[in-house]
Amino acid sequence: MTGRLTGKVALITGAGSGIGRVAAELFAAEGAAVGVLDVHGDSAEQTAAHVAARGGRASAITADVTAAAEVDGALHRLVAEYGRLDVLVNNAAIDLQGSITTGTEDDWDRCFAVNVKGVFLCSRAAVPHLTAAGGGSIVNHASVAGLVGVRNLAAYCASKGAVISLTRAMALDLAPAGIRVNAICPGAVLTGMMEDLMRARGGGDLAAGMAETLAKYPIGRLGRPEDIASLALHLAGDAASFMTGSIITADGGMSAQ
Ligand SMILES: NC(=O)c1ccc[n+]([C@@H]2O[C@H](COP(=O)([O-])OP(=O)(O)OC[C@H]3O[C@@H](n4cnc5c(N)ncnc54)[C@H](O)[C@@H]3O)[C@@H](O)[C@H]2O)c1
Repeated sequence: MTGRLTGKVALITGAGSGIGRVAAELFAAEGAAVGVLDVHGDSAEQTAAHVAARGGRASAITADVTAAAEVDGALHRLVAEYGRLDVLVNNAAIDLQGSITTGTEDDWDRCFAVNVKGVFLCSRAAVPHLTAAGGGSIVNHASVAGLVGVRNLAAYCASKGAVISLTRAMALDLAPAGIRVNAICPGAVLTGMMEDLMRARGGGDLAAGMAETLAKYPIGRLGRPEDIASLALHLAGDAASFMTGSIITADGGMSAQ
């Protein structure tokens, strides 16, 4: 590792599993102190323990990104512990399956609460700290599902489209404070979230669902959490100092067709 985040403090939401966990490990390996926020405190503890076992610095934070008081408290605790905040990765999300006719109103509200309002609340709480640090980077994890339609995932698609729009608006509003805001749109990445979707797509058969999905990926494989975490690392660091308002796909060419 090359110490690309040495001296920086990063908060990663939803870092108890999947892409967020791998990002926490990578950021810490690159020198950052990492706040590992998750609604599932035990998962956050496990990620923080993984990081510590490799000699990195991380603190587990149990918080729900949809609860303003919990988010504000989490930011204050992290800054009190490490003295500053340089990077926020808005990664926490849920993917509720259903079309516009089969998805419930509750599913819609929950999807927007976590995936969109969560980004709003965490970013709002982070901005004063990022500003105090002289600027920083916010990385929003959107999805190719915010750029193209995906069957039976209506609320999720709409929520990720909203994250893409919010990214552009935030980039404009926060540029004067030296805060860059970019979004990553991953294609299918093998995590717990994607496994459920693949199984449903294959009518209960995970392998069949994966084969159907893989057929849409020109690069011949699905994504790995590392593919997304390394892009988040690039956006978080100084190498991306001229990037803001960018919406970047990392999808093996899926959305290029
Ligand atoms: N896996 C994919 O194929 C894929 C594709 C495109 C985009 N993404 C996006 O990447 C991000 C990470 O996805 P993943 O596959 O690692 O998912 P995941 O389900 O493995 O991890 C999501 C984490 O978020 C946490 N979380 C959920 N609700 C929360 C809340 N209210 N407050 C705090 N934490 C909460 C969960 O506990 C979990 O640890 C998400 O934004 C997702 O939409 C994933």
